[in-house]
Order: sequence, then C-alpha cells, then structure tokens
Amino acid sequence: MNAETLDPRPAGPVGRSLPHESARLHVTGRAAYCDDIAEPIGTLHAALGLSPLAHGRLRGISVATLRAQPGVVAVLTAADIPGANNIGAIVPDDPILASDTVNYLGQPVFAVIATDRDSARRAAALAKEVLTLEALPAVLDVRAAHAAGQYVVPPMHLSRAIHPGGVAAAMAEAPHRLAGQFSLGGQEQFYLEGQISFALPQDDGGLLIHCSTQHPTEMQHMVAHALHLGAHQVQVSCRRMGGGFGGKESQSALFACVAALAAQRLQRPVKLRLDRDDDFLITGRRHGFEFDWQVGFDDAGCVLAVEVTMLGQAGHSADLSPPVMTRAICHLDNAYWLPNVAIHGYLPRTNTQSNTAFRGFGGPQGALIMEVMQDSIARHLGLDALAVRQANWYGTDTRNVTPYLQTVRDNVIDPLTRKLATGSDYARRRADITAFNTQNRWLKKGLALTPVKFGISFNVNHFNQAGALVHIYTDGTVLVNHGGTEMGQGLNTKVAQVVAHELGLPLTSVRCSATDTSKVANTSATAASTGSDLNGKAAQDAARKLRQRLTPLAAAQLGAAPDALVFADGWVSVQGAAPDAPRLRFAELVSAAYVARIQLWADGFYATPGLSWDRATLTGQPFYYFAYGAAVSEVALDVLTGEWRLLRADLLHDVGASLNPALDIGQIEGAFVQGMGWLTTEELVWHPQSGKLLTHAPSTYKIPTANDVPEALHTRLFHNQNAEDTIHRSKAVGEPPLLLGFSVFLALRDAVAACGPAGCQPPLRAPATPEALLAAIDAVRA
Ligand code: MTE
Ligand code: MOS
Repeated sequence: MNAETLDPRPAGPVGRSLPHESARLHVTGRAAYCDDIAEPIGTLHAALGLSPLAHGRLRGISVATLRAQPGVVAVLTAADIPGANNIGAIVPDDPILASDTVNYLGQPVFAVIATDRDSARRAAALAKEVLTLEALPAVLDVRAAHAAGQYVVPPMHLSRAIHPGGVAAAMAEAPHRLAGQFSLGGQEQFYLEGQISFALPQDDGGLLIHCSTQHPTEMQHMVAHALHLGAHQVQVSCRRMGGGFGGKESQSALFACVAALAAQRLQRPVKLRLDRDDDFLITGRRHGFEFDWQVGFDDAGCVLAVEVTMLGQAGHSADLSPPVMTRAICHLDNAYWLPNVAIHGYLPRTNTQSNTAFRGFGGPQGALIMEVMQDSIARHLGLDALAVRQANWYGTDTRNVTPYLQTVRDNVIDPLTRKLATGSDYARRRADITAFNTQNRWLKKGLALTPVKFGISFNVNHFNQAGALVHIYTDGTVLVNHGGTEMGQGLNTKVAQVVAHELGLPLTSVRCSATDTSKVANTSATAASTGSDLNGKAAQDAARKLRQRLTPLAAAQLGAAPDALVFADGWVSVQGAAPDAPRLRFAELVSAAYVARIQLWADGFYATPGLSWDRATLTGQPFYYFAYGAAVSEVALDVLTGEWRLLRADLLHDVGASLNPALDIGQIEGAFVQGMGWLTTEELVWHPQSGKLLTHAPSTYKIPTANDVPEALHTRLFHNQNAEDTIHRSKAVGEPPLLLGFSVFLALRDAVAACGPAGCQPPLRAPATPEALLAAIDAVRA
C-alpha cells in the first residue's frame, strides 16, 4: 500500500491502518471457525440426502434402508418437523426438507444422523436408491420460464420520463438508437468455509446453535418456527465466518434448522457441515440475468431514452430475489442521469438452486447493462468510451434525480474519474493500444475505464437499525458486542476502533466477542455493506454513554470542567494542561467508578435517518448516501486461443474518511478481483437435460487466484469525507468495489472489437471465458 493512501488523521485508533483483529490468527491457522469448536462426547453428525431429479413428485422414502446403514442413528424427513417447514424469509415457498415435490436437482429431502460424518454421508449418498420419485417436466432456462409466465413474485416496473410523450416517444425521437440482448452468468460465493451449523441441546429444552451465518437473528427465528419454540429458547452464535459474500445471509437457515431439529429430537449435539460439492448443489448464488435493452441517444452520445427488460434467474423459490431485483432496478442508472427510462424486472422460477444475495445484491447486474450500453454507444459513434460516459454523468445541481426519484447530493464521479484518468495515463495508453493493435495480428490489447455509484442502505427501511452492548471491566479493559457479524471484512476491527476512540483507549484494550442473539436482540443481517455504518454508530452510542457516565467523576478528581476532559491513550487529562499536570489512568477512573456504584456497561442503538421507500411505485429515498469509484483495466488477448491477461489495473475508490485504510484497500482489491472472476472465468453450467449443476467444485468452477492479480495493481483511496453524518464520516466499502471489475470485462470487449472493423459491436457474453471470447472474435470478423 502506498503512503499517499493513508488518511491524514490525528493519532488515535480511528482512521489508522491497523491490522485485522484476527490477522495473526488467520495466517497462523489458529482462528477458530464453527468446525473448530470442540465437540462434546456424544456429538452426532448429519448429512443431507439430495434430490436426483430437477422436478418430481415425491412418492416415498425408504427410511428403513437408511436406518440399516452402519453408524446411522436417525433419519429425519419433512414429516419430523414439528413447526413450519419453511425457510423462505419473504415468501413462504422454501421448505427445509422437500415434502410433496422436489423442485431442483440437489434439493435436500432427508437428513441422516450418524455417529460420524463419514457414515452419515455414505448413507445420505443412497438418495437415488431410497427415494421414489415421479419425474415432472423441468424448466431450467430463464427465458423459457419467462415465456411460460412462471415467476416467484410478480414483475416490477419502474418508469420515469421527462418527455411529455413518455419513454416511447423519447426513444422514437432520438437521433440514434441501439438495441440488443445480453447474457450475464451467475456466480458462486465460494466462501472458503462452507455452510455449517452445530446445535447443542440445553438442559431446559432450549438450543444453542453455532452457525456460520451473516444473520444470526433470522437463524434464531427460523429455528424457533421450525421447532415450535419461542425465540428466547434459541440462541445463535457466530464468532466469525470464513467468508459469506451474501451466501450466508438467508441460506444458512436450512442447515441451522436441520442441525437444530436433529439435536432437539435426539437430545444430543448435532453438527451439519457440508461437503463442497453438496454446498454447490444445494445452495443458490448470484442471479444470472438475461437482458433485452434499447437505448436512444444524440450525436454526442448523450442518453435520451433507455428501456431495459431484465430477467433474473430466481431458481425454485423466492428467497431474496425480490430485493435483489429491486436493487438491480435501483442501480441500472449506475453513474448516469437518465431523462427517460423504463425498467422491467422479472424473476422467472426455474428448477434450479434458489439464487440469493451475493456482494452487490443485484446492483452489479443492473449497473453492468448500463455500462454495456455506454460502451455500445461509443463504438457506434466512434467516440472514446470515457467521453461518452462523461457526457452522461449525473450532475451536481441539475440532472441529479434518479429514476426512483432520489436526488443525488454527494456526486463526485466527475472529479474522481478525472483524477483516475490522469493518474493512470488513460489518454496516452489509449493511443498506445490503438497503435499496438494496428501492428499486431494475433495479440490485441484492450482498455476500459468504468465508474461505480452504489447506494448504501437496505432498501427495506426498517432493516437499517443496529444495537451494541459495551462492557467496561474494573481493570479498564472493554468488551464489545454488536449485532454485526465478522466474515473477514474487518467489521470487528472497525467497531473496536470506534469504541477505543470514544473511550480514549489503545486498541489492545478493546475486544469484540462473538455475535450472539442472547446479547444483542433483533439484529439485521450483516449485509448491504452497512455493517460498520450501523454497528459502528450503535457501538459509538454505547461508548459515549459510558464516557458521559465517567466524566463527572473524572472532572471532580482532576478539579476540571467536564467539557475540558480529554480521553486519549488510556489516560484522562485536562485539555491544554501542562505536561506535568495531574491526569488519571483510565483503569483508575474505572475502578473508582465501580466503587462509586456507576454502571460500567451500556447499550447503544442506531437507526439510519431520512430513509423512505414505496414498494408499490419503486420510488423514495432508499439510500442514505452513495459510494463512488472507478477503475481502468488493460488486457492483452490472444485471438487464437481466447486466453488473456490483465496487464494493469488502476483503482480509485471513495470510502469517505476511511476508518481503516488498510482494511478498506483489502476490501477494494478483493472485490475488484471477485468482480473480475464473475465476468471472466467463473462459469456455471447446468446439464441441459438432467438439470444437474455440472460445475460444482473447484475442478470445473474457476475463481481467480493470486496469479490472476496483475503485477501492476494501483489502488488508491479517493479522499472525500461523507457528506452525511456517518460513523466518523466514513463510507461503506464491502460491495461497491465489486463493480470495479466491470473494467476488465469491457477491456476484453475492447480487445475483441480490435479484431473487427471500426464500429463493430462484439456480442460478448459474460462470463468472457476463452470460448465466449473466441465466439465474439469470430462474430466481429464475419
Ligand atoms: N469481505 C470478506 N473478506 N468476506 C466476505 O464474506 N462479504 C461482502 C463484503 N466483504 C465479505 C467481504 C459482502 S456481500 C458484504 S454485504 C459486506 O462485506 C458485509 O460486511 P460490511 O457490511 O461490514 O461491509
Ligand atoms: Mo452482502 S450480498 O449484502 O451479504
């Protein structure tokens, strides 16, 4: 990391590049994940029996056969669930275990509980033999499901026109029009730690569940509903996840419920840890999208009208697909003002895994089609793609209302991209690449600069709340608990920094404990990148209460006015006092406060202000603010093999006033590479007849590795205090930089275009695998 990226903040823990709270544990292998928790004697292991058909009627399960297998203790089916057999958080259409029908190949139908994991898995693998199924016709293709009119929820439409004749009239009058289809694949979260739950029965009929989840509260509720328990009888705990990326927001529920059901029935601890292949076959991922688009524009490339139909492959159930589509619709504009726009979002139901959250939550899908349109306009007009984008940016005072009617007040996209274009030498490299491409037949280079504008907050207003609980012990050390979950993103580090800052302590005096439903109640998922915004503010609120309680005592002891006190570096001193003036150690103050019977723990709460959302009209103020960024990527493409390399990438990203530049840069680079993988190497293939996901392991599903990160990767933070009163004026960073990966895809499209005549439009689908690239090269040459 470059020193220039560091925030010029005063000493103290906030704004400093402090290492992740578990960095040492991560790299030495000592960080404990769910599967590392010591198993009590008598622990049993569960495995799931999966449907071998994409669609079928379930006629019977030969439970006796399963029971007779070595090591098997119990077999559970839908009939054994005492409460609701449903884990659909929005629409109740998602069974824990299939009962009458199976709706995708890989759907769990029964659970085998055995003395060891191997025995459980061997028995569960007999699914094909023990299930009596009657095959039904399966719909695998999203366009086919759309044609059949089968959706998980009704379509969503958003239309806004400043043209009195509406979008159609604006389109008809536009001097230029382009239209096309675009196919965009889904993406597997590929968290390194797979889905896992470990349920331990408690003596009073309650349950403790260690679960790798982004949403402990929802797990608590799902388990309570399934088992007919009160929420107060179910405790869900998560110290950390080995990655979630959205895949453990809703979809950890099935595993939590099965482990809990087995533990309750057998009154023994039960662990369910998925094998990687099963994880792929059972759980959903990022929605693949199919687009039909049309754009009208003028000679300068200014967009006059846009109409887009988006089909998001929901899979067999709704899961989080409705809000994913809402976010796709709210991010179609990306960084551009669209005077006349009509967006149609459909969520076709297919006999495949139920797709769910994945970093960006539909936002990347919506924004990518806009970038494909911008790129296509530039090629059509023979203009530089950056010039066309600049012509379309949101304005600052005018041209600043989004299609969903929120006014963009914090727009920095123009200065940000200008800074990046200059810093990355965009114009000169553009000319160099053009020259290179005229001189080289078998290698073509491509370059693209793409912007990001990403709205921060949950579209569902009431999720934007958080709580925290802060304890000060009598030795002056502090334990923080908050409702967010740690999945590697550094949330606990940032929250600890905030608390340490409020109490004037070194970070070593502050520790975050596992997220636990018994400590902070009714939490939201750690998602939508809001973890530090929400939980940081809630923890700050708690820490401030504590400082305020300690202040009168300290003021009395130091003989100073309360507002003259400074809490810093583990000391309480008087502002502006001489260096040898009396001061108090924080720990001394705390023990005095204990003796004075002052409460040394506090709760904190935060709710994001000013949000509104009308689900019927898809309008309102869904986002508190926007995060911005841009990337320039340069690729070299071998036109004979379709192989390519990313030669250089320059990333400039707005994290507001960074809470921790090192963590933020880690998030930016990780997200960029993850976005690049989505659009290039990560391809999902289902067998066209059976509907089996064929790419269900790292052997066939290729995520980027360290080798794919370019040697020249220049990451900078764009200094830009948040205009809103967020935690220390920082901005959320988790998801927005995933969209920086667009630049790699569009650089590849640029390289393909260099194989054809001027003005050609490469029909490049995503992911741009070598096969897709070769097909697009053939098409532009024809
Ligand atoms: N970073 C790591 N290392 N692991 C993860 O699982 N998830 C991403 C992002 N960064 C993820 C990650 C997603 S999908 C989200 S929504 C945010 O982190 C959630 O955390 P935050 O809200 O604290 O940023
Ligand atoms: Mo992130 S997709 O909001 O969990």
